[in-house]
Amino acid sequence: RRQLFGFLGAGAAGAVVGAAAGAGVAVAATSGGAGAASPAASVYPFFGAHQAGIVTPAQDRLHFAAFDVDDTLDRDGLMALLTEWTDAAARLSQGLEVAEGGAVGGSDYAPPVDTGEALGLPASGLTITFGFGPGLFADASGADRFGLAARRPAMLEPLPRFQGDALVPEISGGDLCIQACADDPQVAVHAIRNLSRIAFGRASLRWSQLGFGRTSSTSTTQATPRNLFGFKDGTANVKAEETATVDDQIWVHASDEPAWLAGGSYLVARRIRMIIENWDRVQLGEQEMLVGRSKGEGAPLSGGTEFTEPDFEKTGATDAPLIDTNAHVRLAHPTTNGGARMLRRGYNFVDGNDSLGRLDAGLFFLSFQRSPQQFIDVQTSLARDGLNEYLKHVGSAIFAVPGGVAEGEFVGQALFA
Ligand code: HEM
Repeated sequence: RRQLFGFLGAGAAGAVVGAAAGAGVAVAATSGGAGAASPAASVYPFFGAHQAGIVTPAQDRLHFAAFDVDDTLDRDGLMALLTEWTDAAARLSQGLEVAEGGAVGGSDYAPPVDTGEALGLPASGLTITFGFGPGLFADASGADRFGLAARRPAMLEPLPRFQGDALVPEISGGDLCIQACADDPQVAVHAIRNLSRIAFGRASLRWSQLGFGRTSSTSTTQATPRNLFGFKDGTANVKAEETATVDDQIWVHASDEPAWLAGGSYLVARRIRMIIENWDRVQLGEQEMLVGRSKGEGAPLSGGTEFTEPDFEKTGATDAPLIDTNAHVRLAHPTTNGGARMLRRGYNFVDGNDSLGRLDAGLFFLSFQRSPQQFIDVQTSLARDGLNEYLKHVGSAIFAVPGGVAEGEFVGQALFA
């Protein structure tokens, strides 16, 4: 089999050998950790109990794509597409080309099966995560051409309108989604490009988003990164090592409805524009009050260090709470939201500038949760968030993310059983 490992250094050799042997087990899960091996050496297994790219230590780069299924696609065609996507994703995430023959196996009559721009690059920790949008279970006219309506998760519907939403339909929704995360942007883009190409004539790209500089840690081995407001983001995130919380708050249970989604999760995507230029004129003290944490250390304003639990009761000299009543961390905290938590896995984006010369920048927010209600509760609570003056939610989408894939199966196969 042709591989994309040509230029790996000696330190990555173990990862190469294990992956090439198709071991199907974690060869290296080193991304981002202090003192970890080169992220480029990370190879995550595609097959397993849950899809990769959720509790996987968040990689540095993202290419996220939402697709609409074409009008002519039928149930068999959809299953064939998911089968081909699964086969390609399983190979790509191991650093292989889309299929045998690869980037240089074209002929006079057909283009190569792989577009080639990742030739020679290592797997770079690539994970590919698939999701199903509400439109797969009935189209806008209510027609159920895939015969899936009876299996739609009751909660899988477009999110309610939240205060301040300024959603643009062209960058919202989608029948299918693919989240590609990697430590090399070229590898993530290569994955989405080739999976889009495979879908040609069956599903078309509706919108896609590039992201850089992960805005969350999803493992205790990772240092907390910063978002474009300059604050540490991900401190109180659900971490992979908190297995009881992950099980309770992130994975859909077999006893939840519908059973085909067991081991999966719900993915919420929000493109949140940050009005950076206004934020940059705000005094440090006010920035910290709006977030509820210090900017440098990321400690709660009630005292302590980054990982000290915030004390929302503690008052200062004026008897006012040290963490403001409208601070982001107070309104987003589980104690304000009936215990609801979520695994945040967002990325920064800067997509050029607008006609006023302001950066078109922000947070591409991604969260995984056992039920969409967890996101709805927190986002509803955030209606009072003082940060909102500097934010605009312009894109929104929700997807049911099927559980993990076993070798020989395709992603979401249980939905069609
Ligand atoms: C915490 C920033 C949007 C949910 C935080 C923290 C920061 C932050 C700096 C504190 C560090 C941490 O624990 O991660 C932002 C910014 C946003 C944004 C700049 C918009 C651009 C959202 C949205 C949600 C959300 C849309 C969900 C609806 C949370 C949660 C926490 C948090 C659950 C942890 C609260 C805790 O348990 O202490 N956010 N956030 N955030 N954020 Fe956001």
